[in-house]
Amino acid sequence: MQLLDGKALSNTIKDELAEEVGRIRQSDLKIPHLAAVLIGDNPASESYVRSKVRSCEKIGFQSTLIRRKADITEDELLEIIDDLNKDRDIDGFIVQLPLPKHIDEDKVTLAIDPKKDVDGFHPVNFGKMAQGLPAYLPATPFGIVTMLDRYGIETSGKECVVVGRSNIVGTPMSILLSRKAKVGNCTVTLTHSRTRDLAAHTLNADIIIAAIGIPNFITGDMVKEGAVVIDVGINRVEDASKKRGYRLVGDVDFDAASEKASYITPVPGGVGPMTVVSLLMNTLKACRERDYQ
Ligand code: GUN
Repeated sequence: MQLLDGKALSNTIKDELAEEVGRIRQSDLKIPHLAAVLIGDNPASESYVRSKVRSCEKIGFQSTLIRRKADITEDELLEIIDDLNKDRDIDGFIVQLPLPKHIDEDKVTLAIDPKKDVDGFHPVNFGKMAQGLPAYLPATPFGIVTMLDRYGIETSGKECVVVGRSNIVGTPMSILLSRKAKVGNCTVTLTHSRTRDLAAHTLNADIIIAAIGIPNFITGDMVKEGAVVIDVGINRVEDASKKRGYRLVGDVDFDAASEKASYITPVPGGVGPMTVVSLLMNTLKACRERDYQ
């Protein structure tokens, strides 16, 4: 079994991006600038956004964090988005999800200028992705594709089972891996809460992508010998032995699945850091392609 070390790989890619920033500085071009909007005080969202902003600083991008309380109105948030759409210095921005219940996430996503939508959540980017046109790919699926590519894992002709059909991971992942592309050409099965006999599907899979958000949902006996196992879950489970009172576990029972898998991602340190680095790659792309200099 080989570990798919997202932390190490993301650091390698960050070094490459930092070199690119060096070249940008020498050429006197604009430094990429990412803004992140964080609403409320969801601890997981705070931690993700902190990591995104810190990564920007590490590689020399500019970053702006916009924080508002959970009682912000939908109109106030839409106004912030409008300002960011118009701000000539901001190349790309994200609105961290989930949002408080009284705010319509679809409305918020639709309000983001697709040219600045470095999360790749806007239907314009999603549609382009589905048709294989140049687009901002959603950060987590993009990170997984990058990881499979850099580790040289063959995907063509493989059976891939995606577990979970969210708009931000499962559904775009299933589309990307079925595309005619260097990392793609899989036969993809997208499974979800109504799937009958999930294990029958996963046991047939050469590649399993688990994105369901339930701790240890994929057990060892659901994994085929030699399968590639990608665990997208980042679940907090209570653990009194830890100072912070919890530990992070994935959607896969790591110990049991590693006995079967040829490659497997750890949690933490697998997909998570790849998501962050994908956002940085999208921000660099947005900066290069800006048409409003
Ligand atoms: N919430 C969970 N993952 C993501 C992500 O990739 N982007 C945003 N904006 N919110 C998220």
